Amino acid sequence: MCGIVGYVGPRDCSDVLVSALTKLEYRGYDYAGIAVFENGKIEVAKSKGRLSDLVAKMEKEGKPKGHAGIGHTRWATHGEPSDVNSHPHSGRRVTIVHNGIIENYKDIKKFLIENDRTEFLSDTDTEVVAQLLDFYYDGNPIRCIRKVLHEIRGSFALGIVFADRPETVYAVRCESPLIVGQGPGEAFIASDVPAIIKYTKDYYLLEYGEIAVLKNGSVSFCDFHGRMVEKELKTADFDEDSAEKGGFEHFMIKEIHEQPTAVKTTITPRIEDGLPNLSECGITKETLKSFNNIFIVACGTAMHAGMVGKYVIEKLARVSVTVDIASEFRYRDPLLNTDDLVIIISQSGETADSKAVLNLVKEKGAKTLAIVNVKGSSIAREADMVIYTHAGPEIAVASTKAYMVQLSVMYLLAFEMAFAKGKITEEKCRRLTSELQKTPEVIEKAIGLSYNCQYISTKLITADSLLYIGRGLDYALSMEGSLKLKEISYIHSESYAAGELKHGTISLITEGMPVIAVATQTSLLEKTISNIKEVKARGAMTIVICDDEAEFDDEVADHIIRIPKISEMLMPMVATVPMQLLAYYTSVNKGNDVDKPRNLAKSVTVE
Ligand code: G6P
Repeated sequence: MCGIVGYVGPRDCSDVLVSALTKLEYRGYDYAGIAVFENGKIEVAKSKGRLSDLVAKMEKEGKPKGHAGIGHTRWATHGEPSDVNSHPHSGRRVTIVHNGIIENYKDIKKFLIENDRTEFLSDTDTEVVAQLLDFYYDGNPIRCIRKVLHEIRGSFALGIVFADRPETVYAVRCESPLIVGQGPGEAFIASDVPAIIKYTKDYYLLEYGEIAVLKNGSVSFCDFHGRMVEKELKTADFDEDSAEKGGFEHFMIKEIHEQPTAVKTTITPRIEDGLPNLSECGITKETLKSFNNIFIVACGTAMHAGMVGKYVIEKLARVSVTVDIASEFRYRDPLLNTDDLVIIISQSGETADSKAVLNLVKEKGAKTLAIVNVKGSSIAREADMVIYTHAGPEIAVASTKAYMVQLSVMYLLAFEMAFAKGKITEEKCRRLTSELQKTPEVIEKAIGLSYNCQYISTKLITADSLLYIGRGLDYALSMEGSLKLKEISYIHSESYAAGELKHGTISLITEGMPVIAVATQTSLLEKTISNIKEVKARGAMTIVICDDEAEFDDEVADHIIRIPKISEMLMPMVATVPMQLLAYYTSVNKGNDVDKPRNLAKSVTVE
């Protein structure tokens, strides 16, 4: 839930840290801070609020000047956002930044107090670690770090500087992701590659239980036992432009526009001779045939992609699919057999609850398949099989292109599984695959509807509350539409199965309340239209998203968004676009911070 960075090299360290943190603000933006060696002394600058508040503070009060240091941007977990709770935190001779949670920090604090260490300034778990490092520090940083690592519990990554080791940065990974960048004569640490892509594309992926030492522009590694480790240098497969707004006003709208390319890049390598082929992901036809039950487990938007997956896999492959929220699944003692498949969907590959589910499922002996966007992330590496989505870096907190490519993978998987199980003919499989290949073009056309969505969004900005309704795949899709809208517009929104409304929720309808009906499923159109009539009769302002051939009495809709038609089953990939645009423009019209909505973070590495 935080971003950490570090730098050792010839550049102005404060500038590098701030620039790298800018790319990590999606991980949290409640407060920010840096610590830099200035003339051999550690100077700290920190502030609650956005990174821009820290920059403004440094412009006023001066920034630390030096060539080695660490930095942090944070989503508050312990204590309210305040200057004092901001990272970095220090002991007498040690300063640290931290991503994650230290579970036993209260016990450690008690131990330190019993040993006359009472100078705690903040409410954070991090400061306790800084004090513990200081308590054990005997002039040997690695020995001290190792000792502390054996005493603290939790999932975390740390950046550490010792006052008597100028120009040197230490980094530790225990669960929370951390990479070490290497450029000529300079080295970096960061929670994610986009943070340093401006400076270098070459990086090492720190593994669980490894320590890195950045000194004199070079890097060395050892494990928690102090044994030296040789690591493979990797090269990022994207460049700086992908991590920049590229002329768009916000990352979210840029990412909406990137969807056709993202889908093409994700599906093309997995289609061979007109049929889906997931063998490069370690998935054979034999494997696909063998599963009796499927569980899809994920959080947030990724879970919504799983809902669409359920409808499609069940319909085509005739396998029972249960979709679950990771934080529920992990504690409900799920019934799992060794011939079940558990699919974990995650953009970041680091979400704490989804990761915990993966571990649980592995213990129970079921097979695991990860659908993940971030290469080399924990979930991707630990699952039995992995399908990488190729959305590129997604920076806006509200997910758009990552969801879209997750949908495309759900379809590929459903098609191949249905064919492998003999539930659809080769001809049908080819037809469906060919339709899927056409979606990038259709998505492009749907993005062209921006103007209409922009106009309709002006009708939403005064609403306190609204409903999204749909049936079948439209219902699965409306869950994501509703989440998108509430995340960034702050308008209360719920999604409802259209047929269920009359069993209670319809009592919420008042004059002018917006109801957005997704009605792209031709076979269910008539029924959905009846439900729209029911809310319209009670004063709702109705907005209907349907295909450009749908025929119904236009009077039921106050506003209509007609999208290009493709096969009914694939309509979610098109209909999701106007829902994203409605959310985006409502947020813009309300003057909200679209890319960094309040209280949220993109990568949720705590429970
Ligand atoms: C956070 C983000 C959501 C995301 C969810 C799951 O809540 O704000 O946009 O859908 O985490 O993240 P994941 O990386 O596992 O897909």
